[in-house]
Amino acid sequence: MGCFRCNGASVLEEDTDNTFEKANDQARAEKAKSSPRGSTKVLDVRNEDVSESKRLNSETDGLDSSGTSIDGKTSGTHAQTFTFDELAAATGNFRSDCFIGEGGFGKVYKGHLEKINQVVAIKQLDRNGLQGTKEFIVEVAMLSLVDHPNLVKLIGFCAERDQRLLVYEYMPLGSLDKHLHDLPPNKKGLDWNMRMRIAAGAARGLEYLHDKLKPPIIYRDLKCSNILLGEDYHPKLSDFGLAKVGPSGDKTHVSTRVMGTYGYCAPDYAMTGQLTFKSDIYSFGVALLELITGRKAFDPSKGPKEQNLVAWARPLFRDRKKFSLMADPMLGGGYPLRGLYQALAIAAMCVQEQPNMRPAIADVVTALSYLASQKYEPSIHNIHTSSKNRSPSNIMTKSSEDKSTGHRRLMRDEEVGGS
Ligand SMILES: Nc1ncnc2c1ncn2[C@@H]1O[C@H](COP(=O)(O)OP(=O)(O)OP(=O)(O)O)[C@@H](O)[C@H]1O
Ligand SMILES: [Mg+2]
Repeated sequence: MGCFRCNGASVLEEDTDNTFEKANDQARAEKAKSSPRGSTKVLDVRNEDVSESKRLNSETDGLDSSGTSIDGKTSGTHAQTFTFDELAAATGNFRSDCFIGEGGFGKVYKGHLEKINQVVAIKQLDRNGLQGTKEFIVEVAMLSLVDHPNLVKLIGFCAERDQRLLVYEYMPLGSLDKHLHDLPPNKKGLDWNMRMRIAAGAARGLEYLHDKLKPPIIYRDLKCSNILLGEDYHPKLSDFGLAKVGPSGDKTHVSTRVMGTYGYCAPDYAMTGQLTFKSDIYSFGVALLELITGRKAFDPSKGPKEQNLVAWARPLFRDRKKFSLMADPMLGGGYPLRGLYQALAIAAMCVQEQPNMRPAIADVVTALSYLASQKYEPSIHNIHTSSKNRSPSNIMTKSSEDKSTGHRRLMRDEEVGGS
């Protein structure tokens, strides 16, 4: 597969090629069924160099999204304006028991808006100067234009005096990171099928930004805390405050100040400040790795070699025998071995050092949709245990059980290399 090359990892290529072939067949069949891409949106977002200063000068005057059009028709989410008093009332004056969480730009509260009779999430941006205002303007402009089942809906905003608030649809299950890391002892972790569904959904959200919007958008802040979960763990990407209109014409990148989150930032972008669609692919790969391994993108509580997830994973990618050691222990061995290989193969390709070696998002969507469609049934398939805590008799049993599922080869590899 041309765009899914992977340096020196024949193991990955073997499984991945298989995955992509099957997935491509499925995708072709689905494409034939679906209607032509008449729904492609045309965004009225100008090149950022020009627009940023204009936006800043005009502050919130230009935030009305009603001028956005697809083929001349008004489109996109129509962001409503709310008064500060309405939002204060919705949250009991930003009461602490309505507080959901806090990020780099401010606090998030859950509230009920009488005016529209809807439960919402309200982000109150810190009032500390230009940066917040700029993020606010970009986010409102971007979010009010995009419309996809895997992107969080912006319901409205408040820009009264120096107050800046964003009103989003409320995502009842919160952010993905809370389901992967530091779980309280009584909380059940996500199972394998759910993880693959979340990964595929998040990839579809990114595909919309990269491939369906005109002009396309580089997201720039893909991470597990920005993948929010709705009913039945339906994933949506949130926070477009850092998004950029993609390069136009012959250009391959947009030059920016380096922004993003440690552990997720592509090395090429961090070093050069040149933002490309492949910067997002790297971040996506990190989030996928978190889903598979349960580890954090960056974890200062770990030893120096394990703090950065990609640095920890890279040497393991080269050794098929180590793959099952990478699976999140919270899965309790409940994953399909082939599916684990394939998911790791996709992640490995996304986090390659060379940006041009990383796949396009459309290929990632195809591969992950295929993986998500392959349901893992613990009652039918085997529960895997790491070779560390498996007795030889246990391994023998599993090897023979696995004959029909194609898992046997790895079991034998594990025995050979068992640590
Ligand atoms: N629409 C929403 N519905 C439900 N919970 C939300 C919503 N938006 C945000 N949250 C919660 O609030 C927390 C803080 O979100 P916020 O976006 O401010 O910070 P972050 O994503 O952790 O970091 P960053 O500021 O870099 O994006 C999230 O982790 C999430 O749990
Ligand atoms: Mg966020």
